[in-house]
Amino acid sequence: MIFAANLKCNHTRASFKIYAEILNKTIGVKCDDIIVFPPSVAFLEKENNFIQGAQNFYPCVNGAFTGELGKEHLDEFGIKCVLIGHSERRALGDEEFIKAKFDFAKEHGYKIVFCIGENLDTKNSGKTLEFLKKQLEIIDLNYERLIIAYEPIYSIGTGVSAQSTDIAKVLEFLASLTKAPLLYGGSVNENNIKEILSVNHCGGVLIGSAALKVENFIKLIKG
Ligand code: PGA
Repeated sequence: MIFAANLKCNHTRASFKIYAEILNKTIGVKCDDIIVFPPSVAFLEKENNFIQGAQNFYPCVNGAFTGELGKEHLDEFGIKCVLIGHSERRALGDEEFIKAKFDFAKEHGYKIVFCIGENLDTKNSGKTLEFLKKQLEIIDLNYERLIIAYEPIYSIGTGVSAQSTDIAKVLEFLASLTKAPLLYGGSVNENNIKEILSVNHCGGVLIGSAALKVENFIKLIKG
């Protein structure tokens, strides 16, 4: 099972250092199935037992892109894993930009956690699968370092996860399109994680709020 933590705009360099120390100690040995996405100012240079990933990047090595983060900056911290298409970032850019990020990350061999998910209107109109298929049309579903995270927008940060029957339907559909590991994300917490992980085709979780405190993230990992 893959356990990924998206810390979003939380934690400073100082607090993430402590977070990482505790997590490193708990994990004990290098584990590729635990991924943490800290804010970029908190990236750590030292080797960790978990995979450190970038919440965002600009599809360039370096260049005249004010305020952005290129490959050169990720390289400095040994970062080889990126999050692409999170709904909180999709709100800021278009599909073409997401495709450019995917293509760049693939070209440079990054592990890619690619997020997709529908809003409540789409779900209520019965168009979920069609919508998700469209979101996947711009990427290479055979890329060997791809992980897909299904994160219905209505469940992100709301405290209410999607119903496991709905998750099951979507993961079944996604599994028919790709061999990539499939994660679920959206209000995963200690009360629902067991049920979510037991859904057919569920290969792990992407956790936001419930992973902000390292002790809570560890509890979720330990099950
Ligand atoms: P949440 O966030 O667990 O707080 O709902 C998940 C995510 O946005 O990746």
